Amino acid sequence: MDIHAAMRMTDMIHLNHHLITVINRFGIPLGFGDKTIQEVCEQNQIDSDFFLQIVNSFHDENYFPRLQFLDFSISCFVNYLRKAHADYLGRNIPAIERLLERLIDSFQGDKSSLQVIQQFFREYKDELMIHIEREEQRVFPYVIDLEKAYANMQFSDELIQRIAAYSIEDYYAEHNDIEEKLFDLKNLLIKYAPAGLDIHLQEELLHLLFSLEKDLNRHSIMEDKVLVPKVSIIERELQLVHQARTNNGSESHTAVKSRLREIIGDAGDKGQSELSRREKEIIREVALGLTSKEMADKLFISLHTVLTHRKNINRKLGIKTVSGITVFAILNGLVSPEEIS
Ligand SMILES: [Fe+2]
Ligand SMILES: [Fe+2]
Repeated sequence: MDIHAAMRMTDMIHLNHHLITVINRFGIPLGFGDKTIQEVCEQNQIDSDFFLQIVNSFHDENYFPRLQFLDFSISCFVNYLRKAHADYLGRNIPAIERLLERLIDSFQGDKSSLQVIQQFFREYKDELMIHIEREEQRVFPYVIDLEKAYANMQFSDELIQRIAAYSIEDYYAEHNDIEEKLFDLKNLLIKYAPAGLDIHLQEELLHLLFSLEKDLNRHSIMEDKVLVPKVSIIERELQLVHQARTNNGSESHTAVKSRLREIIGDAGDKGQSELSRREKEIIREVALGLTSKEMADKLFISLHTVLTHRKNINRKLGIKTVSGITVFAILNGLVSPEEIS
């Protein structure tokens, strides 16, 4: 069952209480009364579409609308990932460590086999810390810089060199499954635990391991399937625009145009439809700097219709910013550079 905007927040938690974790990461306090998800998001100034994508992908492992995710801002997404990291290192891992400690302390038999398990977990914790540190120190600042550059198409040669030195594809290639060892740890406790362990502590520990494993699994999938494709599109577009500028425009435009078409093709799903005549008109007006209200007046359509067209354009192109649409419009001959200047 999909979670939708009109669902009451309370009903969502009754449907899946693990979503309390996600709610906490968004900084939403409990005590919703009968408010719907939409109302709670508005109250907390959270993009409800983004919230719904996260809760649905957390709730149902088969739910994964990659295209819809591509519309969200990177900084918003990174913010969520950072909060999840803080949870893993600040809450989940220490809770597991404490339980393991208590399990060993309460055991009356030979503790050596349990200490081996404890050592296994310590090594896992070190790996997880390195994994998270790399993302926080290297990957996240990089992708946020890219997003800033992409928003206004102002960027230096240095940024293009950074893309060449360490692109998001390099991160993807190195990105390992951090939950695999947790799977092993669970099995060590389930299949090979010595007799005489405190069964309640053991049960509590297993619940924590199962839930952390699931959370990490969803987290890694979001990094691989949402962050990587989105950043990859931005990297390629920045490189192409840089190339066009370096070659001083006109003679490289045809090549840039066809390659940008390829990018846009990749960005959307394969069954994506062509732009309609009206959408092309709107793209042209966006590039010329008109506001949605001005477009509605000029084209004799309602503001709501303009906004719907703009949403569809963003989805079809995989480009959200005005400056990105402007570049697309120039490269596709919908507007000339002279008209813009
Ligand atoms: Fe991460
Ligand atoms: Fe990761």
